[in-house]
Amino acid sequence: MISSRSPGTTALWVAWARAVEHRRPDRLFADDYAAAFLAAAGAEASTPPAEFREALPAAVATRTAFFDEHLRSVTAGGVRQVVLLGAGLDTRAFRLPWPPGTTLYELDTPELLAFKETVLARQDAAAACHRTSLAIDLTDDWPATLCAVGLDPAQPVAWLAEGLLPYLEVESADRLLTAIGRLSAPDSTLALTYNPEALRTLAAAPSGRHLGSVGVAHPALPGRPEPWLARHGWQAHAHDIIHQAVAHHRAPAAAMEHTSPGTSACWLVTATISSQQSHRQPSPR
Ligand SMILES: C[S@@+](CC[C@H](N)C(=O)[O-])C[C@H]1O[C@@H](n2cnc3c(N)ncnc32)[C@H](O)[C@@H]1O
Repeated sequence: MISSRSPGTTALWVAWARAVEHRRPDRLFADDYAAAFLAAAGAEASTPPAEFREALPAAVATRTAFFDEHLRSVTAGGVRQVVLLGAGLDTRAFRLPWPPGTTLYELDTPELLAFKETVLARQDAAAACHRTSLAIDLTDDWPATLCAVGLDPAQPVAWLAEGLLPYLEVESADRLLTAIGRLSAPDSTLALTYNPEALRTLAAAPSGRHLGSVGVAHPALPGRPEPWLARHGWQAHAHDIIHQAVAHHRAPAAAMEHTSPGTSACWLVTATISSQQSHRQPSPR
């Protein structure tokens, strides 16, 4: 069971939003397991606080569809290793049509993955790729463990950190990017959600108390992701979630509105590593 005061709680909130999308007649994707996770956890644990229920369905549907398209594109281009950092209750291993030879690694906490595996086993879920789940703490020294279970750093990797950065202090986020860079052969990609502006706004609002209680660290990252990622050798494209919501026919909620000009409540980011930078150290600040 996922404790109500752990980061895994927000994985349940995301699954709640994907279950909402799954029930829509015009759904952007089907997630056959989202409802099973909610049923196993119980309504009290899995229903987000009232303040988040308006914004979450459109935001999660938009980012899920966006990163589905990204991963389909990079694997169609030949990448065969996919790593979900803070995988939560993501079911892409089961619901996307992966090219033969694709291995997908799901990295998350032991507590979250134990819950996930139990529910998936009960559902007789069969992955559409070779799937490996790895119980680790992403603030620890995890790369050796990932390579020990099969990741080949000589081959390109598609990394996805969806909803993860809010849990990491800025030093841990920097260390994570350094570790990823060292494991990234040329043609590797990195995709992530980036929302420090929204977290700063939320931290000052009454609803911010919910995030603190489930482990959100409110990292002091800059408002835009490109310079931070460039320092770690990644050439990034940041897409405003509002534009992506509209492109995917989802009405942006008030909470997605810009906090100030030139910023976004949430950037959906895709990045490629330059061949000179792969496996290197980040440049100094
Ligand atoms: C908001 S959820 C997002 C889950 C998933 N990526 C999605 O979008 O559905 C954040 C996830 O990050 C995981 N997480 C947070 N900090 C972590 C850490 N230090 N090590 C491993 N996983 C972590 C949590 O357990 C949780 O499953």
